Amino acid sequence: MIDDALPPPAAAPAEPPAAGPAPAARASRVGAQVDIVGMCKEYVHGGRVLSVLHGVELHLAAGDMVAVVGASGVGKSTFLQILGTLDLPTRGSIKFDGEELTTMGPERLAMFRNRKIGFVFQFHHLLPEFTALENVMMPGLIQRLPKAQVRQRAADILGRVGLSRRLTHKPSELSGGEQQRVALARAMVLEPALLLADEPTGNLDRHTGEEIHQLFVELHRERGSTMLVVTHNLELARMMPRTLKMIDGGQLAPYEEVAA
Ligand SMILES: Nc1ncnc2c1ncn2[C@@H]1O[C@H](COP(=O)(O)OP(=O)(O)OP(=O)(O)O)[C@@H](O)[C@H]1O
Ligand SMILES: [Mg+2]
Repeated sequence: MIDDALPPPAAAPAEPPAAGPAPAARASRVGAQVDIVGMCKEYVHGGRVLSVLHGVELHLAAGDMVAVVGASGVGKSTFLQILGTLDLPTRGSIKFDGEELTTMGPERLAMFRNRKIGFVFQFHHLLPEFTALENVMMPGLIQRLPKAQVRQRAADILGRVGLSRRLTHKPSELSGGEQQRVALARAMVLEPALLLADEPTGNLDRHTGEEIHQLFVELHRERGSTMLVVTHNLELARMMPRTLKMIDGGQLAPYEEVAA
């Protein structure tokens, strides 16, 4: 049963958010403003310090949509994990609509993450024993929103990504592209202020990859989330309004400046 997978009610917000106006009317105020200053990340490995990110700066306005490209191992996933509050920086500041994240306690951070941030990974990370619909319902159920409303929202967004006829399929009964569309629907179902994607099409053929990127662009236009998408594919990156290249030390430069 789907409820068995939920955390205890203590994690619930005091008041479920109201249903709110239609998505189109909401779009302009959904996205988060993100300000990253002096972000550093060091790993200690085998007794040695490995400095991956060194003084990274990034400012995202509410509703920005940015692609990040860069060589393998340069620190893109590390950066995304920290921005998504799944890991802490060694130093530096991350402000989310003016609120500092690096000093937030773990419980508050978990709630914040669930309410404000959506993730899409290279491998979909769907729960194999649940259907597409149940997987997309999960973030709303974790927030203890009313089940009927959660079901409706999940069905709506699955329809939006073209899967209204696959609601009862489990991940193993979906194609790779369909699984990734479910993952995108799950990440977007609560209209997160920030959507982070780490090579969401790295595992897909070119045509399916293009379709998924197109969906990112369309959902961004409709829902207004601030989006950061890491990709190895420059053609796909170019579908986004702004492309940054991560270079040594995790510095993020406009792609055009470092392309030559
Ligand atoms: N937990 C860890 N401990 C030690 N080193 C790590 C750890 N995680 C990552 N690294 C190192 O940090 C560097 C950056 O890794 P990261 O996964 O962020 O790269 P990436 O840019 O996402 O690469 P790719 O494009 O191949 O996914 C790599 O050199 C990696 O070996
Ligand atoms: Mg990576």
